[in-house]
Amino acid sequence: MSPLAAIARRPRIVAGNWKMNKTASEGVALARELVALRAGDPAAARAPRVVLCPPYPSLESVGGAIDGSGVELGAQDLHAETHGAFTGCVSGPMLAAVGCAWAIVGHSERRQLMGETDAMVAAKLRAAQRDGLIPIVCVGETLAEREGNLTEEVLVRQITAAYHGLDAAAARATVVAYEPVWAIGTGKVASPEQARDAHRVIRATLDKVSGAGRGSELAILYGGSVNAGNAAQLFAEPDVDGALVGGAALDAAGFSRIIAAASVGG
Ligand code: PGA
Repeated sequence: MSPLAAIARRPRIVAGNWKMNKTASEGVALARELVALRAGDPAAARAPRVVLCPPYPSLESVGGAIDGSGVELGAQDLHAETHGAFTGCVSGPMLAAVGCAWAIVGHSERRQLMGETDAMVAAKLRAAQRDGLIPIVCVGETLAEREGNLTEEVLVRQITAAYHGLDAAAARATVVAYEPVWAIGTGKVASPEQARDAHRVIRATLDKVSGAGRGSELAILYGGSVNAGNAAQLFAEPDVDGALVGGAALDAAGFSRIIAAASVGG
């Protein structure tokens, strides 16, 4: 099945964002442990798509460790250009060449700490697609924005900026991650109702920007303090199609419990 066909049916997806953690050898050990746990899972046939996003220096070796396991490889970011004088940056063709099929774009840490603008996120989304990667487009409000009743406005702005002008087929070949900034790395998870409401705003915005029907076609992941203890409750919400997991993805046993919770009917 092509990635596009799979996404059109709104599969469940669990992606692990390792952030700036794990050397290559530590990453290989973690990936091997996860693959071994997955191999013994009786619900594997109902499992979600699983994506690991290690830091750049670990991509190739982690890719080797998950080769043939069904677990997929993703990058945490990419530069919008294919090559050139951009010291310290990595491009989509480089990521594809080491086996990446996915790329996170617009993570709030990059928006907040590295000054990424909505326009840069839009460019990266298009670059990922140009280079054969499935973008996981991150959006989400800060605590101040939520407390100021600006959540909807922020989500509409971020989604509109990212998807404006993208044709229907291209929009369909993306995944959104709703990650409230106040929930990332804080242990404060959004309630299933908060996630549902945000996902509905995102779906309605996608319908407006990318054409009617897009909103219900796209997988929308929730991210922010997802762990083995709260995942099932989040996945019980029909509008939540999976998770983008940070801290809890660094532990193979816990991450595989999150994957099991996302198994269809699981
Ligand atoms: P967290 O991070 O699970 O550690 O909150 C999620 C993310 O930033 O993608």
